[in-house]
Amino acid sequence: MISTPAATEGAEAGTATGSGSGDGTVPRHVAIIMDGNGRWAAKRGLPRAAGHRAGAEAVRTTLKAAARAGVEVLTLYAFSSENWRRSEEEVSDLKGLLAYYVDKELDTLHREGVRLQLIGDPSAFGPQLVQRLERAVERTAGNTRLTLVVALNYGSRTEIAAAARALAEDVAAWRRDPDSVDEQAIDEALNTAGLPDLDLLIRTSGEVRLSNFLLWQAAYAELLFVDTLWPDFDEAAFLDALSQFAGRQRRFGGR
Ligand code: FPP
Repeated sequence: MISTPAATEGAEAGTATGSGSGDGTVPRHVAIIMDGNGRWAAKRGLPRAAGHRAGAEAVRTTLKAAARAGVEVLTLYAFSSENWRRSEEEVSDLKGLLAYYVDKELDTLHREGVRLQLIGDPSAFGPQLVQRLERAVERTAGNTRLTLVVALNYGSRTEIAAAARALAEDVAAWRRDPDSVDEQAIDEALNTAGLPDLDLLIRTSGEVRLSNFLLWQAAYAELLFVDTLWPDFDEAAFLDALSQFAGRQRRFGGR
């Protein structure tokens, strides 16, 4: 029986469960690879920056939908460690958009009970943007309705290597027994420590790969690849994703 808000055709999003269903039909942790901004813009004869701006709108819409549905954590891949290969102009556009979004949305995020968290290595974005982001993280640290995790200059292999290095250093310094390096220890050494396990990973725009995003965390996540370009991903699309998740049988390796 599907019991997400999406199950009721035309249901008012505002009537959704609010704080999770507790029965596993609403994912606690959803991550999204937001892909297709460039193609969305190209289809309209617009510059790529216009696609990213429209993508930021889709972030706002999706965040609202996730909070209403009772999702606890929404993790967004905003900038991968490979994105530096894009033109200087595009990188600068993305940085500007991020700064603008944080400034413009911070009051709303805070008022709506959203806690902002960052994963990856935002230091590469320069001290000004880092300071803005850190202030936003601090200001929202006490909020409990939904955690918005923004992955910035993030790469999963780098994250796992850093965790392995930190654990190895602890072993080398006799702070840790090698036998204690188990799955939980690695979980706790990752950027995502303390967050609930990833339940649902969505990628938009028809590409079917993980692109170095949350490789460890996605071990038992349901994967959903949709053709929609990210700027077109709206509340209905998000609710449809939740509905598909609710219809999946999760076995975690059992039968
Ligand atoms: C992928 O589309 C999208 C990105 C690399 C950037 C995502 C960033 C945003 C949506 C901006 C705002 C983010 C936040 C958190 C406010 P693409 O450029 O790879 O599209 P393409 O594959 O069609 O070229």
